Amino acid sequence: MRNTLVIGNWKMNKTLEEAVELVVRLKEKATDFPPSAEVVLAPPALYLASIAMLEEPWHKLAAQNCSHHDYGAFTGEISAPMLKSMAVDYCIIGHSERRTYFHETDALLAAKVDACLRNGIQPVFCCGEQLKQRKEREHFVTVLNQLQQGLFHLTPAQLSDVVIAYEPVWAIGTGQTASPEEANEMHTFIRQQLSSHFGEVAANDLRILYGGSVSAGNAASLLACSDIDGALVGGASLHVRDFAAIIGAAS
Ligand code: 13P
Repeated sequence: MRNTLVIGNWKMNKTLEEAVELVVRLKEKATDFPPSAEVVLAPPALYLASIAMLEEPWHKLAAQNCSHHDYGAFTGEISAPMLKSMAVDYCIIGHSERRTYFHETDALLAAKVDACLRNGIQPVFCCGEQLKQRKEREHFVTVLNQLQQGLFHLTPAQLSDVVIAYEPVWAIGTGQTASPEEANEMHTFIRQQLSSHFGEVAANDLRILYGGSVSAGNAASLLACSDIDGALVGGASLHVRDFAAIIGAAS
């Protein structure tokens, strides 16, 4: 049984004061969250320690990125052991913004997945096609290639610590969501591909999140789909009422 996972990816938003206020106000709503939903906040790395110190049992923490090295002379970087030492459970890897703006390659992302796993952090591995690729019916092959390059070197046991987030690039921050049918079709495809490579048990246990303009209005229909196990929420996770409503839809 896969429990529903809702992750709020704040990206590069909020001052420390605003970040703490958001967590405190979400806490006021946390008693209404469905017990079966796992809630994870992914604030900017700079705030992870402050939010971890609030010791709120209703959510876990994710980082938005990490180095593929564990330590060393890499100015500006943050490693998986550092994240682990701050009670961080998850790390988003391969978000399309990092693939595009920071030129992160498939090989680098595979190394980041390894860094997370060897340090007890669950990678949230992002995949998804550009609009042009969908229009040219290349979305399945694009996503399969991302999975092959980033994850297929793992063992089935390692895969059990991975979460996948399907985020069609054309739906991120655009207000244009994939329909529940389009999203679920891709999630089912991803699970089938993982099943052929890693075996049915590993594929059935794995959680596949949808991301891309998830809102209070569309969350319930997306989360009701058979192969959608949660949401990776961007913009709506910055607003208490919207994020609380999305979590509320995750029953
Ligand atoms: P939006 O929800 O703002 O479209 O962002 C999705 C996303 O990129 C989450 O990682």
